[in-house]
Amino acid sequence: MNILFYHPTFNGQKWIEGLAHRLPQAQVRIWQPGDEAEADYALVWLPPHEMLAQRSGLKGIFALGAGVDAILAQERQTPGTLPAGVPLVRLEDTGMVQQMQEYVTAYVLRYFRRMDEYQLQQQQKQWQPLKPHDLQRFTIGILGAGVLGQQVASKLAAFGFPVRCWSRSAKQIEGVESFHGNDQLPAFLKETRLLINLLPNTPETVGILNLSLMQQLAPQAYLINAARGAHLKEGDLLKALEQGQIAAATLDVFAEEPLAPMHPFWSHPRITITPHIAAVTLPSQAMDQIAANIRRIEAGEKPSGLVDLARGY
Ligand code: NAP
Ligand code: GLV
Repeated sequence: MNILFYHPTFNGQKWIEGLAHRLPQAQVRIWQPGDEAEADYALVWLPPHEMLAQRSGLKGIFALGAGVDAILAQERQTPGTLPAGVPLVRLEDTGMVQQMQEYVTAYVLRYFRRMDEYQLQQQQKQWQPLKPHDLQRFTIGILGAGVLGQQVASKLAAFGFPVRCWSRSAKQIEGVESFHGNDQLPAFLKETRLLINLLPNTPETVGILNLSLMQQLAPQAYLINAARGAHLKEGDLLKALEQGQIAAATLDVFAEEPLAPMHPFWSHPRITITPHIAAVTLPSQAMDQIAANIRRIEAGEKPSGLVDLARGY
């Protein structure tokens, strides 16, 4: 069995050793330009077009992340980047659930306990206790109730917040109200005081965090975008902050990454920025899952985490 590996920044040697250990029958190599030798599987992030375009015999392509929007965008721009008919498989959880729960919980509590405001007060040397937010009225809405959204919802519900989620299909999650489909989006947004975005970036969800959506939230709402920058209309967020419709926002992802030095988000007093670190790929857990999926394919079974190319996630 031959496995190709390509990632623009990961330590390839570590992956070669880790995969060889998990799949002793496999020959694993880092793809180099000009390498057209045979391969059964490819593990990739942003693969150059020539890596896979002319290949036959591939049995699976494994994306080294949870979201596959960038890889699908490459395919749209340069058809053939993903050879037709080869299953594309993404990472599911592999330690991202816990990281995302930690990230989101940290910023939810920061806003709920008004720590962002106390931080600003400290800069003014101002000693001023603020009225606490009411837990029962601090409704949290989560866009996307997949692998990450469901577990984040459950974690927040355990604090006693009213939690609701929105997805394409209805969900049953203990302590969480489920909304689904475009028809139920307005009802989901109404009364949501803190909105968390955990949707995939698809043609249907791009730009969903726009002024019209923000204006349907409870007044003085908070926003946490930990999904993709393409979801957010950046100018609309600045307008909503100016109008007081949005009280503050935490952004982990941006239309252009890294965020340009002159970008107005950097210095906005009510925007918090993190550099796309909410939930990163953990090599050991990712390799366990990919190796298990390769064993499934070899046994004629369906891998878990198969991407539906038509839906885009
Ligand atoms: P997932 O399991 O595929 O879940 C996606 C959820 O979004 C599903 O509940 C799906 O509904 C819902 N959805 C998709 N399109 C929709 C639409 N048009 N209308 C309503 N709901 C829709 O994905 P995941 O593993 O939770 O990851 C979600 C995203 O998080 C990834 O795509 C990635 O962009 C982002 N992410 C970010 C980081 C970071 O560090 N910032 C890390 C990992 C992932 P159904 O359940 O009904 O299909
Ligand atoms: C990170 O953003 C991922 O999609 O894995």
